Amino acid sequence: MVRTLGVIGCGAGGVEGLRDGLVEPAIGRGWRVAVTLTPTAGAWLRAIGEVERIAQATGLPCRVEARLPGEGRPHPDVDCYVACPATANTVVKLALGIADNQALTTLGEAIGTPGVPVAVFPKINATQVRHPAWQSHVDTLRAAGVHLLLDDQLAARGPRSGLGIPWAGVLDTVETITT
Ligand SMILES: Cc1cc2nc3c(=O)[nH]c(=O)nc-3n(C[C@H](O)[C@H](O)[C@H](O)COP(=O)(O)O)c2cc1C
Repeated sequence: MVRTLGVIGCGAGGVEGLRDGLVEPAIGRGWRVAVTLTPTAGAWLRAIGEVERIAQATGLPCRVEARLPGEGRPHPDVDCYVACPATANTVVKLALGIADNQALTTLGEAIGTPGVPVAVFPKINATQVRHPAWQSHVDTLRAAGVHLLLDDQLAARGPRSGLGIPWAGVLDTVETITT
């Protein structure tokens, strides 16, 4: 049976490489891939034609906006979610349970769905880590069973792109948590 990977992309530098770095390699490993972008990532990727290219590559709509109440769900049920890259903004809102865009709605529901692993790669810098509330958000997500892929854990998992996203290591982690 085909497994479906839900990919969430946020407005962090490097998200432009989402299709090359994560979507197409996951498809190559046998996953069906359903992509949802935050509004910021959606604006960035739409501006360079990547929203359409992702839809073509996956055969599914690349979601940015929420569906209308009368519309059906555009994505199939998902077996595992990975948010990569995840901004500090999205990680914090996810930990607080805020769902003010489709990507956060999707991720928040996934955290509450038994049997659906959620992996998050926060692409953040030292100033964001030093924010006094950061560690409590990390702790909240970990306690909820979210696989937080922090830099030190991924260092051994191969090279990363020029903009600092270790795509292959993230995908390897997805395989690890789903087998
Ligand atoms: C060029 C550029 C690169 C950015 N890179 C990052 C990043 O790596 N990590 C991060 O947390 N925010 C980054 N930001 C800031 C986010 O885009 C901003 O906080 C935005 O509100 C995030 O929205 P989202 O979480 O809904 O995608 C960047 C902004 C710009 C303009």
